[in-house]
Amino acid sequence: LNSYLPEVESALNEALSRVSDCPPQLMAAMRHGLLAPGKRLRPQLVILAAESAGGNAKDALPAACAVEMVHAYSLIHDDLPSMDDDDMRRGRPTCHKAFGEALAILAGDALLTLAFQTVSEFFPAATAAACCRELSRGAGAAGMVGGQVLDLEWEKCTDGDPKDLERIHGLKTAALLRSCLQIGAWVAQGERPGGPDRQVLDSLDQFGSCFGLLFQITDDLLDVEGDPEKAGKRLAKDAERGKLTYPRLFGVEETRQKAHDLCRRAVAALEPLGEAGRPLAELARSVVTRDH
Ligand code: IPE
Ligand code: IPE
Ligand code: MG
Ligand code: MG
Ligand code: MG
Repeated sequence: LNSYLPEVESALNEALSRVSDCPPQLMAAMRHGLLAPGKRLRPQLVILAAESAGGNAKDALPAACAVEMVHAYSLIHDDLPSMDDDDMRRGRPTCHKAFGEALAILAGDALLTLAFQTVSEFFPAATAAACCRELSRGAGAAGMVGGQVLDLEWEKCTDGDPKDLERIHGLKTAALLRSCLQIGAWVAQGERPGGPDRQVLDSLDQFGSCFGLLFQITDDLLDVEGDPEKAGKRLAKDAERGKLTYPRLFGVEETRQKAHDLCRRAVAALEPLGEAGRPLAELARSVVTRDH
């Protein structure tokens, strides 16, 4: 499953190296955020989705990098004192701890914009346009950013029900993960007349919704019972900040059950893809038991 990680790492490196005439302190902050040892889950999703739709990993790399840039930006901003106020990320000091708040905000902004530059420079018109649309949808006001607003707003509330929670997690995390899967299909089939196969897009989107929720649920579980060394970030902070999370609402056992259910639903959504969907199914199963 992780066989493309070296290619992803060098593609991320090269993407930053291509940025010329950038203030060196800004580049240092961007490198710090983007190149720190993350799991590269989103690039992997783009690549596996592209392969499931008949494409190849090498062609998907610029899109895989673009999604990781958007993700790295979201983490830099998520850690800011005005948001989750964290000082460790990916086993290193957070960007604002290392470079100061202003530079961290701007490095996030620069990574976000570089993502759009990357897809528009590397893909033919129809695919580039679709990638930009999917990235905007996943990252924007009705996606990750909207979810982050709700996540912070709920910190002050003591109630909240499963519907609220599903909406927060659906937006702040699942939206961008869904985009990864759609982008994979577009990279593979975007230049066909009429664009990618509808059934492929639908299957991947259903998978993405379940997978996205599953992923944030396991992030919430790790916050309760994970090992900070392995996670590379401070844990046990959701309860401290009063976040609305699955363990808070359902307890750890029921939350774990929900993770298993979502994994089953994610895998079922891939059925129309047949054998081609197997690596994505395997990735979903590995998330259920992840320790970082
Ligand atoms: C952390 O994402 C933030 C969430 C959306 C849960 P990851 O767990 O994918 O973080 P990295 O990329 O491996 O650092
Ligand atoms: C992050 O959720 C979601 C993002 C959009 C970055 P969390 O705030 O739970 O992520 P961690 O636990 O800090 O990685
Ligand atoms: Mg957060
Ligand atoms: Mg956080
Ligand atoms: Mg978390």
